[in-house]
Parts: sequence; structure tokens; C-alpha cells
Amino acid sequence: MRVERIDTIAALRARLAAARGSGKRIGLVPTMGALHKGHATLIARAREECDSVVVTVFVNPLQFDRADDLERYPRALDADLDLCDRLGADVVFVPSTTEMYPASPRCTIQVTGLGDELCGRYRPGHFAGMATVVMKLFQIVQADVAYFGEKDAQQLAIVRRLVADFNVPLTIVGVETVREADGVAISSRNQHLDRCERQLATALYQALGAARAAIEAGTRDPGGVRAAAIARIPADDRVRLEYLEAVDPDSMEPVPQILQPVIVAGALWVGRTRLIDNVRCTPPPLS
Ligand code: PAJ
Repeated sequence: MRVERIDTIAALRARLAAARGSGKRIGLVPTMGALHKGHATLIARAREECDSVVVTVFVNPLQFDRADDLERYPRALDADLDLCDRLGADVVFVPSTTEMYPASPRCTIQVTGLGDELCGRYRPGHFAGMATVVMKLFQIVQADVAYFGEKDAQQLAIVRRLVADFNVPLTIVGVETVREADGVAISSRNQHLDRCERQLATALYQALGAARAAIEAGTRDPGGVRAAAIARIPADDRVRLEYLEAVDPDSMEPVPQILQPVIVAGALWVGRTRLIDNVRCTPPPLS
């Protein structure tokens, strides 16, 4: 295996100092492991655009709002290392929890406004935990470019603000959502779904598709868009829509009228599994 696994911050810094010193462009792909085609697309993009590619695998306890979600979170380090190797990554950083949090942190990053919308309403502390670990990874790796998926649109919007608000000298690249053949966004949590639930999971993508069709057909009232989308969610005990909203792509706040491009984002519970997805929609010009 050519890819190098590094477990400590000191060893990673030492390894990257040489690359940085010789003017190499360092690309960072932060992940929580259990890597799939979505992650692979980010890593492949980093490989194309950077000289040194660092993938981080760390299941960050700080961003889990439910103990059972953290416990159930899939872990597959050997397969992850293998995939990173095949994709030509240079380093996989796999810190332990104590390496990342030797003590409970006293300074964390709060995300006001932007972090309170959508998922923020239902997952208290999630975005603060995410922003805190992402900032730590930015400080540890000091990359030139970092890659994030558009699948987690609110996360991406927050990371962009994090970099702007703290003057981090880093370019953030957003990568389009990778989907299964039936449209379902690929996610580590999809593996929790049984066959029947996996079938039900298509409802979220179909609802978002219906929202997009309504917007492209000129529906400007978010209530109308929501109604078109919700009509696609089956009345089934195993399915529960948490939210579905048309929001401003930067602030993530609901828009009163759809006059500019928006993101329609939704969260759907299928059995015990929570799935999120979003699509970007552009309304027709005002005549
Ligand atoms: P994780 O869920 O492992 O995702 C790592 C990265 O892969 C994120 O940027 C996510 O948006 C992207 N990703 C996941 N599924 C994708 C898909 N189907 N298409 C495109 N990109 C996809 O997101 C996290 O980890 C964590 O919050 C992290 C940023 C690592 C901080 O702990």
C-alpha cells in the first residue's frame, strides 16, 4: 500500500512540512470514514487538483446529538485505507478521540443564524461540533484547498463562513452530490436501511424533484412548492418528514418568495435512520 496512515498530529505536521516547504499544493478531504462513492468523488477531485492529498477519517463525537447515532455510525478503516490507496491519496490521518480532544474543549465555535436553520433546529450542538472539528482540522493540516460535498449544503455554507469569518487562508471547493441510480444521495447512513426502507428512501429525492419542477414552472410561493413536494412522501408509518424548505443558498434562511436561485433541502426519517438531501433550483426570470 502506497498511502501512508498517520495517527498523530505531530507526525502529520512533520510529514506535511516537507511538502509545504517544497511549494506543494495540499488538498484536504475531511471525512468520518465508511467511505463510499460520494467521498471517492471528493478524493478524486483533490487528486486532480493538488500535489498532496490528505484524507482525514475521524468520527467526531462533538457533532453527534444522539448517542445511538454515534454508536451506530459505521466504521470500516481497512476498506477506507484501501480506497484511499486506490484513489492515489498520499496520507490518511486517523486520529484517536484523545488525540483530537485530550481534554474537553473550552473554546468551541458557535454558528449563529446559519446554524440554527434546517438541521440546526433538530440537531442541537451539531453544527458547533462540526465547525469546531473542521477548524481544528484546518489548523492541523494547513491545506491550500479543502473539499466538501454539496449533499450537506448547510455544512458547506457554514464552512464557507467559517473560513471567511476567521480569515483561514484556504479555498473551499463544493462538490456535486453523488447519487445512486434511483436518485438517492449516497450516504454512510444508507447502510442502516433494510430493503423496504431503501425503497422508501427514494421519496426524499422524488419530493425534492417535485419541488424543483414546481419552481422551474414558475411557482414562487414556498408554500406551493412545499405542497408539491410533500405530495410525494408516502403515507407510511416508517416514513416521517422532519423538514422540507426552500432557503437562501448562503444564509440558509427560508425565503418569503422564490425570485432568486434557492436550495430546497429536506430531512426524512425512514425507520430509525435520518436522511438529508437538497437540490439547487433556479426560478424562471420575472417577465
Ligand atoms: P462525512 O459524512 O463522512 O462526509 C465527508 C464529506 O463527504 C462531506 O463533505 C460530505 O458532504 C461529503 N459527501 C457525503 N456524501 C456525499 C455524496 N453523496 N456526494 C457528495 N459528497 C458527499 O460531513 C462529514 O463527514 C463531517 O461532518 C466532517 C465534515 C468530516 C466533520 O466531522
